[in-house]
Amino acid sequence: MKFKILQLYYFQPLSKFSIMKKTIIKTARLSLLTALVLSNLSWNIFPNDETNPPLLTIKGFTFQDFNRNGKLDIWEDTRLSDNQRIDAIIKEMTNAEKAELLIGTGMPGIEVLTGPIGDSKKGLVPGAAGGTAAFERFGIPATVVADGPAGLRIQPTRDNDTKTYYATAFPVGTALASTWNKALLEEVGKAMGNEVKEYGVDVLLAPALNIHRNPLNGRNFEYYSEDPLISGKTAAAIVNGIQSQGVGTSIKHFAVNNEETNRLTINAHVSERAIRELYLKGFEITVKESQPWTVMSSYNKLNGEYTSARKDLLTEVLRNEWGFKGIVMTDWFGGFPGFESIRDGSNSEVVKQMIAGNDLLMPGIPVQKKALLEALNSGKLSQEVANINAKRILEYIFRTPTFAKYKYSDKPNLTKNAEVTRNAAAEGMVLLKNTNNALPFADKQKGVSVFGVTSYAWITGGTGSGSVNNKHTVSLLEGLNAAGYKLDNELVDLYKPYADKEVLAEKERREEKGVMALPERLPELKLTDDFIAKKAASSEIAFVTLGRNSGEFNDRVVDNDFNLATEELEMLDKISKTFHAKGKKVVVILNIGGVIETASWKDKVDAILLAWQPGQEGGHSVADVVSGKINPSGKLTMTFPVKYADTPSAKNFPGIPADNPKEVTYEEGVYVGYRYYNTFNVKPSYEFGFGSSYTSFDYTDLKVSSPTFKDKLTVSVTVKNTGKVSGKEVVQVYLSAPAKSIDKPKEELKAFGKTKELKPGETQTLQLTLSPKDLASFLENKSAWIAEAGTYKVLVGASSEDIKKTAEFSVAKEITVEKVKKAFEADVKFTELKP
Ligand code: BGC
Repeated sequence: MKFKILQLYYFQPLSKFSIMKKTIIKTARLSLLTALVLSNLSWNIFPNDETNPPLLTIKGFTFQDFNRNGKLDIWEDTRLSDNQRIDAIIKEMTNAEKAELLIGTGMPGIEVLTGPIGDSKKGLVPGAAGGTAAFERFGIPATVVADGPAGLRIQPTRDNDTKTYYATAFPVGTALASTWNKALLEEVGKAMGNEVKEYGVDVLLAPALNIHRNPLNGRNFEYYSEDPLISGKTAAAIVNGIQSQGVGTSIKHFAVNNEETNRLTINAHVSERAIRELYLKGFEITVKESQPWTVMSSYNKLNGEYTSARKDLLTEVLRNEWGFKGIVMTDWFGGFPGFESIRDGSNSEVVKQMIAGNDLLMPGIPVQKKALLEALNSGKLSQEVANINAKRILEYIFRTPTFAKYKYSDKPNLTKNAEVTRNAAAEGMVLLKNTNNALPFADKQKGVSVFGVTSYAWITGGTGSGSVNNKHTVSLLEGLNAAGYKLDNELVDLYKPYADKEVLAEKERREEKGVMALPERLPELKLTDDFIAKKAASSEIAFVTLGRNSGEFNDRVVDNDFNLATEELEMLDKISKTFHAKGKKVVVILNIGGVIETASWKDKVDAILLAWQPGQEGGHSVADVVSGKINPSGKLTMTFPVKYADTPSAKNFPGIPADNPKEVTYEEGVYVGYRYYNTFNVKPSYEFGFGSSYTSFDYTDLKVSSPTFKDKLTVSVTVKNTGKVSGKEVVQVYLSAPAKSIDKPKEELKAFGKTKELKPGETQTLQLTLSPKDLASFLENKSAWIAEAGTYKVLVGASSEDIKKTAEFSVAKEITVEKVKKAFEADVKFTELKP
């Protein structure tokens, strides 16, 4: 019984909802010119039948009489600006209509929990997460929003319909970010946006860019990095790509949503400095560089208040400081104190949410509508506030393809998008280790032994709203086969049925336990020493895949998840010893969504390829990299620590009390990820920014444009491919700032660039710019971003530890880069970690 509703949505969402016949005629946003053209063609554009509103012809122009009152109302007059028409709608709307506009139309399935609401049962696009209400008398159509970060999540088959609606499963967030390639990320965004538009959806609920505060967060796979610059630049590129298709995005989860444990209620205590420098920075970059149509507020409380009810966050910072122009929607049931509370009839603080600037409450529940209406009638929610929120929602609706009556095809170019995901996944793969050039392994004549259940039961992406209903996933087995490798068939015949059986058992377990159960690792097949020895004799190389999965509702655990299970260690041990005894190589492929322990076993194997959860073409992408068709150029966007206990937030995750956390204190302050490891000299297993290649690069000619900083500064560096094969290099610019007024991380990433594919011997000079804000830290006592006077060190490298060249510049006089209003007042006192 528990949370059946979510189970319905996330686990078996794909059955019952037929497409609602669109009875509402959508009003096109017409320029005067278009209106003139339409006046001659009006009967074609607006068929005058019973289901459509009657037409009015005035002075040669034809209009739709949405409210059928026989006269032209302002909002029906397509010659006017959107602004004029929207104002007219708001003026005319009743309180009941406003209340309906300010909440979503529900989520298919939630009636179980909430009673009937709006259009949710009909499900305009089956499998979508929700939408906004239609208002026939204003010609306002219902719009549709759907997940998520790895591609469009909708139901792939529909009742009484022979057509299919599969979408492309792209690589997960960690994989995409590991490309450090903004142009490629924009291409991925375009491909995602194309599917959103062609399947009749208006907004993709993505990208997700919360900071990897702790490696155990169950949703880290959806997020990008422990660093806000990478997170923001990655998200901005993807938003720009998606929105170039004329559909919207919802960057999420705003903000400080860094764990899944008790995610609807957990209260995160965080300093204003850490909030601004780390947890908001990526969102700031994304808003400023890509203006997403929508922002999704998060579930958690921040310093004692739900983020969806924080005016400082949603209005002061997001809109007034950063200039965000779109709408804010809650996460699904955001502001409710737990799912149980919904069933028990509680409510979110709707008035507070509205005042905070949280325009739309999702997915929308009857009690919220009732509360909004009562508050509007009693004046507790002022018309002024409601009108601002309503106006933003209407502005959003006016820009949707649904409003523009876009005739979607239901036929996106899945073949083309499969190529996009295949290439993106390969570029996001990180070569962690490659002793004696174990890779590439291009020999198609010599035998290959493929071990590990995950090689045969490949993981496309994580679970929950971040998963995609794609038609088929290419496993490692299929990928290697298609590339022409000579695979050991005895192993295949043994593993394949075993993997199928274990996949089924895990599926049944999750169906029984409910979607909120943590996905479990599939047990490994036990192989005898003799059998492994036989394989070592008959094949040239062993590929061993280790798999991990996770998703919404749960964080990961240390034993048997972050740490390898005993059986996995034994498997690696045996295979390595036996293959090495015969002079054969062992390559580990990591099919994982987030960080795992690597230090204790990495020395046993020759190469490690971090393939992430690379989407539906994953097996092909791995084959492209291991064969050398593609030279790996991905770099880590997070640290792989030696052991979990080294993580700076380890003692403050997921919070207290340990058996049922209610609060979590971010005592590590700004020292998250490499900011901690580098400053406190804690050696990681693999550092932030690391990634090997089949070639090598030289860095020369580091120059800063001026020895003293004025308004901006350009850093230029020349990269040369000094190896034997073509390859791309990610160049990272770190800054070490003077720390007289406050403590600072030893260095912070401030810019990065990726070279084109450089041929052996080829060079490229990259130019990267630093702005005043890149030099600044947030000083709480001054409520300002300040760049201190003094000497700044520029460190240019191939990773956060592998610094190739350094330079210096100075700031003559302290610069107050930005003064802001004080925000995020602490609700408890705590001491932050200092170096
Ligand atoms: C998730 C969001 C998602 C929403 C709609 C929530 O549970 O946290 O990321 O967009 O559901 O499916």
